[in-house]
Amino acid sequence: CPQNLQMEDTSSLKLAACRAKGGAPGFKVAVLGAAGGIGQPLALLMKMNPLVSVLHLYDVVNSPGVTADISHMDTGAVVRGFLGQQQLESALTGMDLVIIPAGVPRKPGMTRDDLFNINAGIVRTLCEGIAKCCPQAIVNVISNPVNSTVPIAAEVFKKAGTFDPKRLLGVTTLDVVRANTFMAEVLGIDPREVAVPVVGGHAGVTILPLLSQVKPPCSFSAEEIKYLTDRIQNGGTEVVEAKAGAGSATLSMAYAAAKFADACMRGLRGDAGLVECSFVASQVTELPFFASKVRLGRSGAEEIYPLGPLNEFERFGLEKAKKELAASIEKGVAFIRKQ
Ligand code: NAD
Ligand code: LMR
Repeated sequence: CPQNLQMEDTSSLKLAACRAKGGAPGFKVAVLGAAGGIGQPLALLMKMNPLVSVLHLYDVVNSPGVTADISHMDTGAVVRGFLGQQQLESALTGMDLVIIPAGVPRKPGMTRDDLFNINAGIVRTLCEGIAKCCPQAIVNVISNPVNSTVPIAAEVFKKAGTFDPKRLLGVTTLDVVRANTFMAEVLGIDPREVAVPVVGGHAGVTILPLLSQVKPPCSFSAEEIKYLTDRIQNGGTEVVEAKAGAGSATLSMAYAAAKFADACMRGLRGDAGLVECSFVASQVTELPFFASKVRLGRSGAEEIYPLGPLNEFERFGLEKAKKELAASIEKGVAFIRKQ
């Protein structure tokens, strides 16, 4: 409706003018799959983030309602909604950061790989749009199976000639968030004081918490190591089973995605010392993709840190993780190359 458009344009102009005065930085962020279980709370959290100046909410269903709702929040970001494939390009044009939680979630009894057949095609289509409309954007991939969807995204970008490994980041923050929470519970301390590096990938045994490298430094009994490792590796399944058919983690995931997106934007702004775990193109192991600590900067994942010294338990876990990861990565790569 022209009246609404006019109102939005006026408010955008006022906001832009206001920002120019204050010199506040603002990033243009798109959430693809914004009407979903993750997408909605993530949209809410992005609308609350002062680093976001423009927020585009794209989905194949229900995005107008979510957009109308979120747009009433009296925070700085200008919100626009986009519905259906024919509006994908408008949703993506000019974006600095694109976050992808589009796709189906697990039900009890399923693995993340069981989502491949549906989600691989969704991620491919969305990444084709990114390659065309905002090839410079930082891309945060949430859709499962992350161990395959990130390689799919990379292959789409390579095909389009736009692949920049620093700008493609698989979101594994929820594994770190869970690891911090569970470790803090065991120690009886505040989870905000805890940092557990989680490396490898984002599915079962590929989720490898490095409990020998936690902060604050501490030593665990063999029983505690087994308990924590199992719980961190199966955190997603714990939620899927508790939700009993109504989906997988959405709220803790939106929190984790918002935390990671915030770190990406601070990096883009030029803040120093931003280190997060992420599943990225990597030379840390012989595999082409691997999750480890990365330093975020103006061009994305600017530095990928080596794993550091591992104990025997972790070295054994790493070998198991690499075996499964290799197959998942290859499956993603083949999905695009065989077309
Ligand atoms: P959901 O079904 O609630 O929402 C998914 C949304 O994606 C829906 O609104 C749907 O309409 C939309 N969608 C489907 N096809 C689309 C397309 N082609 N373009 C744009 N949007 C499309 O699911 P959810 O609970 O939000 O989970 C989404 C994905 O995130 C799942 O694959 C899930 O496994 C994954 N996930 C990943 C992590 C992680 O740590 N990386 C954590 C939790 C969930
Ligand atoms: C999670 O870890 O919660 C997500 O990957 C969703 C899932 O299927 O477990």
